[in-house]
Amino acid sequence: VVTKPSRNFLDLSDFSGATLRTILEAGKAMKARRRTKAAVADRVLEGKNVVLIFEQPSLRTRMSFEVGIRDLGGSPIMVTGKEIELGEREALKDTAHVMSRYADAIMIRMLDHAKLAEFAQWAEVPVINGLTKSSHPCQVMADVMTFEERLGSIKDRTVAWTGDANNVLASWIHAAARFGFKMRIATPKELAPKPELIAWAKTEGASIELTQDAFAAVDGADAVVTDTWVSMGDAEKERRHNLLQPYQVNARLLKAAQRDAIFLHCLPAHRGDEVTDEVIDSPQSAVLDEAENRLHAQKGVLAWCFDRLPA
Ligand code: CP
Ligand code: NVA
Repeated sequence: VVTKPSRNFLDLSDFSGATLRTILEAGKAMKARRRTKAAVADRVLEGKNVVLIFEQPSLRTRMSFEVGIRDLGGSPIMVTGKEIELGEREALKDTAHVMSRYADAIMIRMLDHAKLAEFAQWAEVPVINGLTKSSHPCQVMADVMTFEERLGSIKDRTVAWTGDANNVLASWIHAAARFGFKMRIATPKELAPKPELIAWAKTEGASIELTQDAFAAVDGADAVVTDTWVSMGDAEKERRHNLLQPYQVNARLLKAAQRDAIFLHCLPAHRGDEVTDEVIDSPQSAVLDEAENRLHAQKGVLAWCFDRLPA
């Protein structure tokens, strides 16, 4: 079987800033005309079937892809990894080839990033990363969209991350290199970003500062971002809680940022752990817009995968 080249969306680092910008602007345009007569121009997935495979639970990714695919005129087909026994019942290669005979694109959420890359290599249709242990590119496309809606262009602005150096942070670091913003990252030294990721970012000319002090990271920042202390697949829950306590985003920490700084969190949030109610429910919190923007940003990603970006 010959594998055909197709447009995958696996990591923000795979793309130029210009491509990501084009995708994002298309997403913004589709958001603006959603539910108007003009949205008929966005039905670029008419007749297409898109499979959504989930090995882990999801609310936002599942809903935003299903609704987004329908908005674009396509049909979503959701399967769990369990029901197809992904990687167990047959070789990943065989699943990828067979699915490509039925479906026009495949989105996958699975922890093992190497397996996702392998699947994408065998699939004959576009493959989209719906979260792995290594990255969450669709999330950060929505995050950049949300930043810009609230605060204007993200270029040369400062984004502070405080907490665990997880998959979402990795995609933020990729985005910093591609969209040209600065990142200040506060983590305990035991949970710092991988040196090779930071080395990559530096080679790509990104401005990334690492610290163990949450206040130093947040000082004067335009956005303060955090995420769960225990991601899917993480062990040592208690140790993580102990290490990450000083990185909680609370009102005192948020005050160190710009006065109009926004708070972002990909959700689901653990209120009282990585963020307090006071912050996540405050006017500075953009988390609901952020969740909504998954829909709009991913419509851009889907259209791009089919080379059908609407104007
Ligand atoms: N932010 C996010 O990916 O949420 P879900 O895990 O609910 O999809
Ligand atoms: N970092 C979290 C994100 C969930 C959307 C996790 O991987 O569980």
